[in-house]
Amino acid sequence: MQTNIDFCEYADDHLPEVLKAQVLSFLRITWPDGFTGPNRFRDWTSHPDLRPHHLLYAAGSQLVSHLEIITTTVSVDEEQYVVQSPTAVLTFPAFRGEGWAGRLVAAAVARIDAGQADVGVLTCGPHLVEFYSRAGWELAPGATIVAGEDGSTWVSDDVLLTRSVGPRSAAFKASLREHPLRAADEW
Ligand SMILES: CC(C)(COP(=O)(O)OP(=O)(O)OC[C@H]1O[C@@H](n2cnc3c(N)ncnc32)[C@H](O)[C@@H]1OP(=O)(O)O)[C@@H](O)C(=O)NCCC(=O)NCCS
Repeated sequence: MQTNIDFCEYADDHLPEVLKAQVLSFLRITWPDGFTGPNRFRDWTSHPDLRPHHLLYAAGSQLVSHLEIITTTVSVDEEQYVVQSPTAVLTFPAFRGEGWAGRLVAAAVARIDAGQADVGVLTCGPHLVEFYSRAGWELAPGATIVAGEDGSTWVSDDVLLTRSVGPRSAAFKASLREHPLRAADEW
């Protein structure tokens, strides 16, 4: 039994199947809405079009904590922005409160800051704003997200956080105070 916990990162198509299965199972139980109807047999953690990049801690084949960064294009007031977003952030219950996810969020910030996105965005429940703020994410008060072809508003209980990355971040944040963020789909 391996008990040392190591950091690893993987492009989506290199994520070992045994780790991917644990991420998927966690997501299916914790956020079942993403696994209904045509997505009932979904075998991807984030859609491959979003080019997920996985950061994780594992003890051998046992997943401890995971986060993936997706890259997509959104629009605000008809301006398009390339965004990167940490998603599928999770720690298995036995390992919570030990800083694993906090370290993954810090690693994600470093990667997003060094990347080509205009801005970083993420959504979370209001109770986790403090957790993400510690790693340098800023609440976008009152921001709304419109996702999907039918234009239905995204999970309304969640809040939006941003992180300035490129020179267009300031314009993005200013625009977001007046206009919704539009995404082709939820992630
Ligand atoms: C959120 C989560 C990833 C944190 O993982 P973790 O490895 O325990 O994180 P860390 O040890 O780095 O930080 C823990 C901090 O997160 C915050 N936190 C976690 N869950 C919280 C909750 N339900 N309510 C309020 N704060 C919470 C607290 O600030 C906590 O600090 P504390 O342990 O001193 O109270 C983990 O609780 C989890 O998997 N939750 C279920 C899935 C989820 O909600 N993911 C986030 C989606 S945006």
